[in-house]
Amino acid sequence: MKFFIDTANLDQIREAQDLGILDGVTTNPSLMAKEGISGDENVINHYKAICDIVDGDVSAEVISTDYESMIKEGEALADLHENIVVKVPMIKDGVKAIRYFSDKGIKTNCTLVFSAGQALLAAKAGATYVSPFIGRLDDISTNGLQLIEQIRLIYDNYDFRTEILAASVRHTMHVIECAEIGADVMTGPLSAILGLLKHPLTDSGLEKFLADHAKVNA
Ligand code: G3P
Repeated sequence: MKFFIDTANLDQIREAQDLGILDGVTTNPSLMAKEGISGDENVINHYKAICDIVDGDVSAEVISTDYESMIKEGEALADLHENIVVKVPMIKDGVKAIRYFSDKGIKTNCTLVFSAGQALLAAKAGATYVSPFIGRLDDISTNGLQLIEQIRLIYDNYDFRTEILAASVRHTMHVIECAEIGADVMTGPLSAILGLLKHPLTDSGLEKFLADHAKVNA
């Protein structure tokens, strides 16, 4: 299972990278705005800075919504660095754009996916990754993990090569349950990644080991 971090915050990306478990980064326009990144040049420089930190796929989202503009924008993003994955929304022109990028060997991440039908279309168009937003489904009382299960079944039925990138992951149980289901990738906040470390028996066990060692080595 690949671990991506879902942020545009360079310190958090560095922290996850330093842990030695990071396989990539996902961003979106809201995450870029949260870091105060605006203007074409700053956005481009920020993507380059992320690519300098992480040796793995970095999703950069187009903000155009018509086919021609998405192609132009996506090609410019892909030219920035070999690890850039063009993130394209699940809309009609987006599906066409994914097919275009796929035929040209440009990696894509189909984003804002909320149904199995949308995931099927993304795979048919040749998306590298499909991003079902599980947290946002949970937010409206719909089981996000069931969608991951559905997509896993469909993709396995036909050996689709599109990787399931569980997105809008909010906490550790999302990560663990996605791993049980067999999502290829999860992208989540640093807190969900670091949360996996925690167990009170690890802390108390270590405390006892160190105390016992100290007793006989005083
Ligand atoms: O990867 C998609 C993600 O950024 C959305 O997460 O928490 O805003 O639903 P969230």
